Amino acid sequence: MPVVLHVDKRIFNEAYYPHLHNNARVQIYFGGSSSGKSFFIAGQRAVLDVAEGGHNYLCVRNVKNTVKTSIFNEVCKGITALKLDKHFKINQSDFVITCANGYQILFGGLDDVQKIKSITPAKGVITNIIVEEATETTEDDIKQLQRRLRGRSQVAKTLTMLFNPILQDHWICRVYFTNWDDSSNYYNDSKVSILKTTYLDNLRFLEPDDIALLEDETDPYYRNVYTLGNWGVLGNVIFKNWEVRDLRSEMIDIGNGTQVSLISTFDKYKNGLDFGFSSDPAAVVRMHYDKNHKTIYITDEIYMREMTNDVLGKEVKELIGGEYITCDSAEPKSIRDLQVMGIRALGARKGKDSVNFGIDWLQRQKIVIDTHCQNTKNEFQQYKWKESADGMVLKVPVDKNNHILDAVRYAMQDEMEGRRITAEKAF
Ligand SMILES: Nc1ncnc2c1ncn2[C@@H]1O[C@H](COP(=O)(O)OP(=O)(O)OP(=O)(O)O)[C@@H](O)[C@H]1O
Ligand SMILES: [Mg+2]
Repeated sequence: MPVVLHVDKRIFNEAYYPHLHNNARVQIYFGGSSSGKSFFIAGQRAVLDVAEGGHNYLCVRNVKNTVKTSIFNEVCKGITALKLDKHFKINQSDFVITCANGYQILFGGLDDVQKIKSITPAKGVITNIIVEEATETTEDDIKQLQRRLRGRSQVAKTLTMLFNPILQDHWICRVYFTNWDDSSNYYNDSKVSILKTTYLDNLRFLEPDDIALLEDETDPYYRNVYTLGNWGVLGNVIFKNWEVRDLRSEMIDIGNGTQVSLISTFDKYKNGLDFGFSSDPAAVVRMHYDKNHKTIYITDEIYMREMTNDVLGKEVKELIGGEYITCDSAEPKSIRDLQVMGIRALGARKGKDSVNFGIDWLQRQKIVIDTHCQNTKNEFQQYKWKESADGMVLKVPVDKNNHILDAVRYAMQDEMEGRRITAEKAF
C-alpha cells in the first residue's frame, strides 16, 4: 500500500514542484545547464515515488559506462539529501537501489540491449523510466523503452527525458516540438508534457561561480544552448571527418574466408590523458592508428570527475597495461604519480600553436569512434571554432568540452610530428 511522505516543500525548486506528480506518459524536461533537471527528476521525484511505494524506476543513459558518474550518483545524492539513507540499500556494483518497501531503482545503458530487455524489479513491474541526456539516444531506442512500459499497474506509467537542446535537427525536436512555442516555458498535449528551465530557475541552489560561468559565456552557440536553454544550431564545427561504429562486433576477412574481429587486428595503440578533477573531468583515450589509411580508431575512453591520481592510475593501468600514455604536461606531479604506479606516462610537448597544429593534422585523418565511447562522440560533435559577438569565425577553438580531444592530440603527437620516439619526459 503506497504511503505518503510529508516533505518540506522548500526543498523543491519552485519551477518543478508542480511536476512532482505529473502523470503524463511522455515527459520532457529540457533547457540550459545547471537548471536543476537531474536533481529534481532523479534525486527527488524518483526517490520519493519509490519510497512511497508502487513505483519501480529504470534510469538509463545511452552508454552503460556513463551511468554511474551521472544518474546513479544523482539518485544516491538525492537519497542522502532527503535523509532517507536508512530506508534504501545501495548496491554499488550492480547499480541496484532497493527501498525497504521492496520497490527499486534500476540502472542500465542502452548499449546493454539484453539487460535492458530483461531487467525486472524484485516486486511488480517497471513503472517509470528516466532517460538522462536523451539527445544521445535514437528514436528507435526510445520506442523500445516505451514497450517496456506496456501492461497494467496501479500507478501511471511515465517515460521522462532530460537533456540540453544541443541540435535543432535532432529527432526529439522533430517528433515532440512541432507545436512548441518559445514564448512559453511549458507545453502539453495528449502526446507529451514539456518543461523548459534555465539556471535562472535554479538560482537558489547555485554558487556564484556556477552562475558567472553561464552568464559570462560569449560564444553564441554555447550561450544559446547552455545559458538560455534554446535548441542550438551548430555552425563552424571543427571535425566532420568522424563516424561512429560498433568496433567490437565488426568482422573483417583476412583471406581464405577467415573472419576475425576488426579490433583483434589492432596492434598500434596510442594513449592520451588530459588531467582534470572537479569541473573538468580527467579524460583518457585509447586508439589504434592505421597509418596506411590515415585512420584513427578510438576504442576506449575513461571520463570521470573527482578522481584522485591513485584511482585514475588504477583505471589507466587496467586499460593500457604496459603501453605508453602521453599526458598533459602542465601537471608533472600527476605524471610522476602515475609513473610511480608503474605506468609509462610521459608529458606532451606544448608549443606555440600546438592546438591548431594538432587540429589541422586530425582534420586530415579519418576518425572512427567506437559506439561505447559516448563522451568522445559528444566532444567531437560539439567542438567548434569561436565566434565573435558579431558572428565572425575566429581560428581559435572554443575552450570547452575538449578534454578527450586534447587527449587525442597528445596521444597522436609523435605521429603528427613524424617522430618515432614517444613524447619527452615532463621533467
Ligand atoms: N532542490 C535542490 N536542492 C539542492 N540543490 C539543488 C536542487 N536543485 C538543484 N540543485 C543543485 O543545482 C545544481 C544543478 O542541478 P542539476 O545538476 O540537477 O542541473 P541540470 O539541469 O541537470 O544541469 P545539466 O543540464 O548541466 O545536466 C546541482 O549542484 C544540484 O545539486
Ligand atoms: Mg543534468
